[in-house]
Amino acid sequence: MKIRTLSILLLICVIILCAAYVSAGAGQRPQGLKKLSIEDKIEKLLRKMTIEEKIGQMTQYSWRSGSEDYHKHLRRLAGEGKVGSFLNLTPGICVKERNELQKIATEQSPSGIPLIFGFDVIHGYRTVFPIPLAQSCMWDLDLAAKAASVAAAEASSDGYDWTFAPMVDIARDPRWGRIAESFGEDPYLASVFAAAKVRGFQGRNLADPRTLVACLKHYAAYGAAEAGKDYNTCEVSERTLREVYLPPFKAGVDAGAATLMSGFNEISGIPTSGNRHILTDILRDEWKFDGFVVSDYNSVAQLITHGFAEDYGDAAQKAATAGVDMVMESEKCLKELQRLVKTGKVSEKVIDQAVRRILRIKFRAGLFDHPYVDPNLSESVILSKEHLQTAREVAKKSMVLLKNDSSLLPLRKDIKTLALIGPLADNQKDLLGTWAGAGRSGDVVTVRKAIREKLLPQSRLLYAKGCGIQDDSTEGFNEAVKIANQSDMVILAVGESEKMSGEGHSRAYLDLPEVQKKLVKKIHATGKPVIVVLFSGRPLSISWLKENIPAILLAWHPGVQGGNAVADILFGDYNPSGKLTTTFPRTVGQVPIYYNHKNTGRPPREKDRYTSRYIDISWTPLFPFGYGLSYTTFEYKNLKVNPNKIVLGQPITVTIDVQNTGERAGEEVVQLYIRDLVASVTRPVKELKGFRKISLKPKQKKKVSFTITSEQLSFCNQEMKFVTEPGDFKIWVGPDSVRGLQGDFKIVPPK
Ligand code: BGC
Repeated sequence: MKIRTLSILLLICVIILCAAYVSAGAGQRPQGLKKLSIEDKIEKLLRKMTIEEKIGQMTQYSWRSGSEDYHKHLRRLAGEGKVGSFLNLTPGICVKERNELQKIATEQSPSGIPLIFGFDVIHGYRTVFPIPLAQSCMWDLDLAAKAASVAAAEASSDGYDWTFAPMVDIARDPRWGRIAESFGEDPYLASVFAAAKVRGFQGRNLADPRTLVACLKHYAAYGAAEAGKDYNTCEVSERTLREVYLPPFKAGVDAGAATLMSGFNEISGIPTSGNRHILTDILRDEWKFDGFVVSDYNSVAQLITHGFAEDYGDAAQKAATAGVDMVMESEKCLKELQRLVKTGKVSEKVIDQAVRRILRIKFRAGLFDHPYVDPNLSESVILSKEHLQTAREVAKKSMVLLKNDSSLLPLRKDIKTLALIGPLADNQKDLLGTWAGAGRSGDVVTVRKAIREKLLPQSRLLYAKGCGIQDDSTEGFNEAVKIANQSDMVILAVGESEKMSGEGHSRAYLDLPEVQKKLVKKIHATGKPVIVVLFSGRPLSISWLKENIPAILLAWHPGVQGGNAVADILFGDYNPSGKLTTTFPRTVGQVPIYYNHKNTGRPPREKDRYTSRYIDISWTPLFPFGYGLSYTTFEYKNLKVNPNKIVLGQPITVTIDVQNTGERAGEEVVQLYIRDLVASVTRPVKELKGFRKISLKPKQKKKVSFTITSEQLSFCNQEMKFVTEPGDFKIWVGPDSVRGLQGDFKIVPPK
């Protein structure tokens, strides 16, 4: 009897288990996938999905751009599995919007696949950091990564999963407004920053809820826009593409970036959102990238405007077959894509491949296991004390001291009367900089407030705005001159508004706006010592300032802690250490101007007209790449290259002694450049190959050491392969791209 009862019980268990198994297999919720590997889970899901759902995964809509009716429509699509991602949920209430949409997607849609929510977290979330161009001037990768992890913690606590950052486009043209979002002009520096930012955003484990999925953009060569006009044509050779524009993307992919964004631009005739060569041959076949590519806003439909696609269907087909997986806001194209798959014009395999890549990242990001975000989390995370401290640290280190005659800076805190003048002196909004989506001007500490706090109570601080950033009125000049005359010293806070750089904000002039130039001249004419604090989103041509103003601090657009960072530097609580990562031109006519140019057959020579130069201005920059002053001085000695003759494949060690010869502790960015003298393809006159940021106490000396591998000396040969060729090399180690001690070494072929 007992045995019979047991057998019956066993049978019942087996039936229950089988039923559970069958229902998990055929059921709609992805929970039944728990024990499988990610790749098996993907295949299992794919087998069940209809073509509408698959194309749904490839679809991304912007949430913010619509009315309530539009939002209703989007909710319905989420419930039908016809959308895979949203961007631009509303900062501040994103968690609520997200959780509601996520519930619809996971509980009502046929396959219950969670949505992924993207946002442009470019240089911080509520804790806005300096613009990326400024951050690159820190030459501090750990701090750059920390800034990204702070941004990730804040944005993820508010409900986002994915940032459209870092932008790793090389920018050699300061007219281009998006130079502000870049890490500057150098492929090596931008590459190490790309990797650091990816590490910062994504952390060690993408499934950790405090991380964001990173997106390397804009793939590729978007920064090569002709004449610096945004969205313009990019005429880039395969070699320049591979040597200059692609390395930061490759570095970001190697660091584990989960997504890339294809750009708006064309590369030599092929728009990037339909460019199979870069999206598939290079990205997938050569680099083995297994994440997904999202196209930039409407760039798939714009394949028609480029004259590259006939209609929406053609555009969708070209984008999908080239390697775009998710389409940002090109709804009509995706509808057509569905039709093309159904009529057999586009193979379902292409669609499956795209969906596979998207699901892979959704699994890796932990969205299936944790689709919701705790609505109470953000309060303790956003604008926390630690985050603000990091923002201040980053802002201080991003600023570059361009000039400091007779050690005018730092200032004494007991100065009797100080005049603070200029449209950026008591300004919050513009200090945020471009693309500060979740930033609020109320969070910004102004220069005026920070200086007031720094000064001793008995010191007087007089303030006058003087003029606006761009309007023509000179009405405020008299007041400004009056307070300058009453003071011992003047601080002039001038520059660009946040709107003067960024997307769609290219400039044909790189000067200070006319009204501000006049203001500076008026104040200078008072004869008072003047310090200019320059705010901008790009290098500016400020020759007059350089010639006439004794001290200039470049503050960029420094974010919420900008005022405090400026005050820390002006009063010597922080010794500036930032170094330029873009060349400053004397005038816009020199643009593009960058340090790692080629020699030409007729390099420039004084008084020799038939050389590569101008007849009306010097060919040299106003401030070179790598340049920046400190309140102390550093001496470079004992450059040693060991060995100075190596067999191809062997590493070289370079050492140098750097000593702080001044009276203050300071940090120095020790930079190493090389030149390959003769090669089968012409090489730049200098190339950055390494740097170290060191701290030195007064009189302290440190030995700095670099290892150069053969691989670091490689370039793209005539067959488009990266090779290192034997031959003679020059090497410089110094404080910028112009000065430094020089050595040489030779590479000989293996026997
Ligand atoms: C920009 C991208 C950005 C996207 C989404 C586009 O206009 O080019 O950089 O990520 O919008 O906001």
